[in-house]
Amino acid sequence: MDKIRIYGGNELNGTIEISGAKNAALPLMCAAILSDQPLTFNRVPDLKDVLSLNEVLEQLGVKAQYNSTTKKLILDGGSITSTEAPYELVRKMRASILVLGPLVARMGDAKVSLPGGCAIGTRPVDLHIEGLKRLGAEIELTEGYIRARAPNGLVGASVHFTKVSVGATENVMMAAALAKGTSVLTNAAREPEIVDLGELLIKMGAEIEGLGTDKITIHGKPFLRGTEHTVVADRIEAGTFAIAAAMTGGNVILKNADIRHLQYMIEPMLKAGVELSGDEHHVNVKRLRARLHGVDVMTEPYPGFPTDLQAQMMSMMTVAEGAGMITETIFENRFMHVPELARMGADITVHGSSALVRGVAKLKGAPVMATDLRASVSLILAGLVADGATTVHRIYHLDRGYEDLVGKLAGVGAKLERMKEEAA
Ligand code: UD1
Repeated sequence: MDKIRIYGGNELNGTIEISGAKNAALPLMCAAILSDQPLTFNRVPDLKDVLSLNEVLEQLGVKAQYNSTTKKLILDGGSITSTEAPYELVRKMRASILVLGPLVARMGDAKVSLPGGCAIGTRPVDLHIEGLKRLGAEIELTEGYIRARAPNGLVGASVHFTKVSVGATENVMMAAALAKGTSVLTNAAREPEIVDLGELLIKMGAEIEGLGTDKITIHGKPFLRGTEHTVVADRIEAGTFAIAAAMTGGNVILKNADIRHLQYMIEPMLKAGVELSGDEHHVNVKRLRARLHGVDVMTEPYPGFPTDLQAQMMSMMTVAEGAGMITETIFENRFMHVPELARMGADITVHGSSALVRGVAKLKGAPVMATDLRASVSLILAGLVADGATTVHRIYHLDRGYEDLVGKLAGVGAKLERMKEEAA
């Protein structure tokens, strides 16, 4: 296992190229099950989660060809040879649940392992199951598996989600695209990654209205065709680097980032003393003050502030002037970075789902442990401004979601290296 050592105190300046979004690539890839013609994707990030999902798809009979240099991925669902996604593969990556809807829609049968708990909370899949049941799937839970059947195909229906869920919206959208008739999804998620999936399904032949709103109407088709698609830029990666630039000072340009997908950051960042500007193709980050101000932030479904940037924002608050209150409303147990940040000298008090962060003048480098994907990167950010060296252990979480993090940060002036963990 590897670790990352960061030597704090360097300003970041220059351009960082933003990769395709992990959270868009994963559902897009599952859409390959819907068609017997190949899908070609560009800007697919070279990440462990992408490789894990490829394994799941290959197990189902989808042929996957990935070129990590060109970032092109071709998925050919010409012959689906299995309808089972086993526990050994699904447990590596929760998003494998997204094969459920496409499988039952195309094959009339699916058996997918329940993903089980995960480090950031219980994360149930009841909304996925209820949504597919509305489209006529018969579903039973046996021996840790979800078995879904629709021998005569799925039928369009109205599906109201009792809670906004990105994954459930995606699963039901894909299934509805191959269902007979029209489906209307209400209280649907509005994330740019949902819009990206919808745009792919439209290119494949589905008729969809209302993308980016909470009411999505899908007119299903008996067949969907192959096509080519470029994955939307990763707004979470862009947001993470924006926070890195804000913390260290300097001017950073985020190439490929779309300012429209970062609206929730503009106001809190400005209050903190950072200006974000740009257009659909790039975002400029500029710190306006010598020392940042504390601000309050609450996570919400899109277009609110994303839970996937909560840990990074907290890291920024640890060195701001004054206090900031961070409230997490999406996942329970998503403050695992707090004790690690405290090891570096941060002053944070957690009360239920809120964390009061009192800024300190300086953090101090320390050995810390990565616990989940976004928590891990918050420790790297803290290391960038800490005195001395910070070593982040168990960084395999980072490989799940950040493409070439060390190279990208080093490219704009950070001092950090990836190294092998010495044998115990
Ligand atoms: C996706 C993202 C993840 C992000 C999250 C919230 C991917 C691959 N992952 O995860 O990075 O943090 O959105 O923006 O895109 N819930 C239920 N029942 C369900 C499904 C969800 O109660 O059947 C709850 C969850 O526990 C959570 C909330 O709904 O409290 C939102 O979860 P959801 O939007 O589904 O997250 P994911 O799609 O798993």
